[in-house]
Amino acid sequence: MPQHDVLIIGAGLAGQRAALAAAQAGGSVAILSKVHPVRSHSVAAAGGINAAISIADDWRSHAYDTVKGSDFLGDQDAIEIMCSEAPAEVMHLEHIGVTFHRNDSGEMDLRAFGGASMKRTAYVADITGQAILHVLYEQLMKHHEQVDRYEEWFVTSLLQDDAGNCCGVVARDVRSGRMEVFNAKNTILANGGAGQVYNPTTNALIVTGDGIAQAYRIGAPLMDMEMVQYHPTTLVENGLLITEGARGEGAVLLNADGERFMEKYAPNKMELASRDVVSRAEQTEILEGRGVGPSGEGIYLDITKVPRKRTLEALREIVNIGKDFAGVDITREPIMIRPGQHYIMGGVKTDINGATSIPGLYAAGEVACVSVHGGNRLGANSLLDTLIFGRRSGEHAAARAAGMGMPSASDAQLRADMEMIDGIVARPRDGGPTPPRRVSEIKRELGDVMNQHVAVYRDQAGLEQALEVVKRLQEEASSAYIDDRGTVFNQDVLGAIELGYMLDCAQAIVVASLERKESRGAQFRTDFPERNDEDWLKHIDISLNGDGPGVTYSPVTITQWQPEERKY
Ligand code: FUM
Repeated sequence: MPQHDVLIIGAGLAGQRAALAAAQAGGSVAILSKVHPVRSHSVAAAGGINAAISIADDWRSHAYDTVKGSDFLGDQDAIEIMCSEAPAEVMHLEHIGVTFHRNDSGEMDLRAFGGASMKRTAYVADITGQAILHVLYEQLMKHHEQVDRYEEWFVTSLLQDDAGNCCGVVARDVRSGRMEVFNAKNTILANGGAGQVYNPTTNALIVTGDGIAQAYRIGAPLMDMEMVQYHPTTLVENGLLITEGARGEGAVLLNADGERFMEKYAPNKMELASRDVVSRAEQTEILEGRGVGPSGEGIYLDITKVPRKRTLEALREIVNIGKDFAGVDITREPIMIRPGQHYIMGGVKTDINGATSIPGLYAAGEVACVSVHGGNRLGANSLLDTLIFGRRSGEHAAARAAGMGMPSASDAQLRADMEMIDGIVARPRDGGPTPPRRVSEIKRELGDVMNQHVAVYRDQAGLEQALEVVKRLQEEASSAYIDDRGTVFNQDVLGAIELGYMLDCAQAIVVASLERKESRGAQFRTDFPERNDEDWLKHIDISLNGDGPGVTYSPVTITQWQPEERKY
């Protein structure tokens, strides 16, 4: 049985950064991921990474913008750490080989991003995540003697010893179907968010809430799950991301009357207000009949305002996306976009070192809720979050491992998971009082109902309807059938397990959204349209209670910025 001081699940930016930090701290480290590391969803991060690098800037200004962006739900101690450590982290990336864009004077260039009081987003064209991910992977290969890589292994369960410590995982080799126990002193979840709970989403097919559900199932509380970010600019056709970098470079939003409507909603920041504000403004324009497109379902993003040469140099990925997926040359004509699911601010509750409530279990990146994003994440703060808290988790886990013995993992869960997979493979395609459904059909219905009722605008009736559907889908998922009965690269069987993870996440999102009876950040309740600090300046924590989610609250940490009215 493989044994490691620190076992990291997920090989995107948080996971790779955690692995490198743990290895440098001297632990025996392994990183395990259900896809090849450079296919992790971090590869899709486009516009950049925030850091107060400019001599005119100060990390406190970055921290204040982040607190304000979070609608004062973010924990300010964590935000202070993230923002104060940002410049050194970005410089570290530069030193290990990330080719950040430089200006004519040869200095690192910074672009404008939403909710920021000055330009502070370092970038590599509009492929920043890809650029960083590949450099970190080079570093992992350089440290191959310290870091074992298990690529294309899928986690089916987290393991606990008799004292409740997390002591590793059960995982399946995707290539062969072989199952194995991985024993670890510390396990770091770095396996991303839950975007696939929604349809459409900017998130890759692999983003199925695995880590969130795995931690929840062994008793770790989830926090801020109601806070789901809709990105203001996603393609109407299929939800693909059109980077906020476009607006940072000067692109504008127009309604059917050709009006730059953001003037009504955020006269100072206009298109560069925080994402929740811009998405709500767009949705309001659409709902009030000023949308563009055949049924008024979109908004125009006009990138022709950006000089063509600059667009081709700094936004070349969305030039390709526009052509390939919408048939639009964005350098010559506006492109139709709308708000689309992009990010989940909530996740597994952790402290500032990534530790969860389960000893030996850490979480970092989108799977975690530290909470640095609170009710609404600022664009270009997610890459930063992955790196800062990935590093801190790796360091902390390696330090915790030193001097402790290897906890013992029994193979009971391994046998249970093997039986569970055999059961999925053997499910009949027909028969019974209600015919079984395909996994993909259930997933589609889940995504649609979440996008209908748990989106930019929400209310009690819609949320209750969504909860009912999620509960029915949970029932149906237990008999959902698959087509592939083999063992080699059986993505079908993994899809059935992922569906269970997504349904757990969806239930937590809806329950938390129903619980929060106010509007804050990304949660806008039309039946409770005001922010209510007196009753709701607190986190909602969701824990598994018996068979379903139980709700408790925890305080928001305020260090230096008292809640105030948010205006852009
Ligand atoms: O629009 C974007 O480039 C997305 C960035 C982010 O979510 O941080």
